[in-house]
Amino acid sequence: MNSKDMQLISMHNIMVELYHQILVQTTEGESALNYMLDRGFTLEDIKKEKIGLSPNMNDFAIKALSEKGYSNEAMFQAGILSRNEETFSYFDRFRNRIMIPIKNHKGNFVGFTSRSTDGSKPKYLNTPETDLFQKRRLFYNLFDAFKMIRTKNEIFLMEGHMDVLKVKTTKVKNIVGLMGTSLSNEQVEILRRSCENVTLMFDGDTAGHAATKSIGENLLKSGLNVYVIPLGEGQDPDELIVEKGVEAFEKYVYENKISFLLYIAQKSIKEAKGNDLLYTERLTELIELLKYINDDIQQNRLVSEIAELFEVDQGVIYRRLPNKRQLVK
Ligand code: UTP
Ligand code: MN
Ligand code: MN
Ligand code: MN
Ligand code: MN
Repeated sequence: MNSKDMQLISMHNIMVELYHQILVQTTEGESALNYMLDRGFTLEDIKKEKIGLSPNMNDFAIKALSEKGYSNEAMFQAGILSRNEETFSYFDRFRNRIMIPIKNHKGNFVGFTSRSTDGSKPKYLNTPETDLFQKRRLFYNLFDAFKMIRTKNEIFLMEGHMDVLKVKTTKVKNIVGLMGTSLSNEQVEILRRSCENVTLMFDGDTAGHAATKSIGENLLKSGLNVYVIPLGEGQDPDELIVEKGVEAFEKYVYENKISFLLYIAQKSIKEAKGNDLLYTERLTELIELLKYINDDIQQNRLVSEIAELFEVDQGVIYRRLPNKRQLVK
């Protein structure tokens, strides 16, 4: 690691501690702390994750870090400060926000995501792209989840940082957060190197459904086995836990994991009922995707489920699939 990277991490270590102290030890932090407690996080969770609060000041980080000898330019390069591009004056990027520290895959703090609690926009503000905080190469919580990911040979992928933080408090620990709504090629590679099974657990809204479809297809075509845990309309994993409790959540995860292709097939047939043109298009799409199911048993089962859903003969589907046994010979 070069000295610039080490500086960036050291600055983050300092700010993570300071923001955390403000949240848990000061009167200034009280209302934000109550916000987190009201959302169902315990003080222990908050301490373990080093969640903090950035005070409502333009120069809190500037003062704290310049005392330790860091230059404004270095703080800016680390994504801790913003700069007015007309006057070139620097100011704290994060003000009056709940600070959620983000580690890279080696466990070093390299950035933050932050949430406003007073309705100010944007709701979430992240560290900008820096030398060490590159969203296309990061998953939130990958370092903490990695052991369990290896043990289970499975990753749960979710949208929100709050979802990941909340689900971490259950027995389901092999979870990571998407840093944004799209999945980069670099992130696909990270998933492929980590395990064979990816389970998508995105929000039960339009954006979440769209992300499930596009990301699921991408992962399936990359050779991964893909599953979906569909959530209720408008629900996200955090809300499911708040509403039903930890044990009900764990049970839900166990009982509602369906193959990505079956999830798509069920949605497709609902949409295509009574529209024969769409019906043919959707069935053709599904058969295209069936080619990427490596496992014979799974493929066979999916053919029979799709045939039943679409009310066609299994032979129609098989005729369009490459015959694997012949290919091998
Ligand atoms: P959501 O709107 O579903 O937020 O956005 P959430 O995670 O459920 O957050 P809470 O429960 O309201 O606190 C999903 C993800 O989209 C990104 C964040 O990563 C967020 O976790 N996002 C959302 C942003 O980056 N900026 C925003 O302003 C909103
Ligand atoms: Mn959402
Ligand atoms: Mn939420
Ligand atoms: Mn959400
Ligand atoms: Mn397989």
